[in-house]
Amino acid sequence: MANVFPSPHPLVAHKLTLLRSVNTEPKKFRELVREIAALMVYEATLDLTLQPRQIETPLAPLTGSECQDKVGLVPILRAGLGMVEGVWNLLPSAEVWHIGLYRDERTLKPVQYYNKLPIEPTVSVCLILDPMLATGGSAVATVDVLKRWGVRKIKFVGILGAPEGIALMEAHHPEVPIHLAAVDERLNERGYIVPGLGDAGDRQFGTG
Ligand code: URA
Repeated sequence: MANVFPSPHPLVAHKLTLLRSVNTEPKKFRELVREIAALMVYEATLDLTLQPRQIETPLAPLTGSECQDKVGLVPILRAGLGMVEGVWNLLPSAEVWHIGLYRDERTLKPVQYYNKLPIEPTVSVCLILDPMLATGGSAVATVDVLKRWGVRKIKFVGILGAPEGIALMEAHHPEVPIHLAAVDERLNERGYIVPGLGDAGDRQFGTG
């Protein structure tokens, strides 16, 4: 698991425990998804590039720093949508690009149904957002699309990962770093992460 970064942060572990609890209601669940997403992106953006910026403090001129990278957020529908707001708190000028994928029940392969990416990439870094890296099929297909778009730096930012999803990403896109709050034991026969947190979409949107 060379390119997998489980969070070492105690606040992430604390909030993840609340998120996992079956007693956590959708309003609190959404708040926790936003907060954990912000903490995960704080860790995932440690290597953003900076450029010098001249400013004046009230006392003296200063050469400070500003982020040079243009960041694009790519939430995987639908559960990834809940992470966007938390990430925007840290990266208010990040662009959000939507790529719609569904799984063909016959071939079990992801099929793209929505993609309005312009021809040329408008960002230098893409952060794929999905709370659950389960089978990894959507994550791999999303990286495929972003690579075809021409983005060179791509990262996956999630909350929980299963060994199966991590292995698929490492087989197809070994250079893409995977930032997670935690790595769980396994997938069950219905594709849910165990012990997990249940259906991250249903728990956010109250549809469970
Ligand atoms: N998607 C979810 O929402 N939960 C899982 O456990 C796996 C995939």
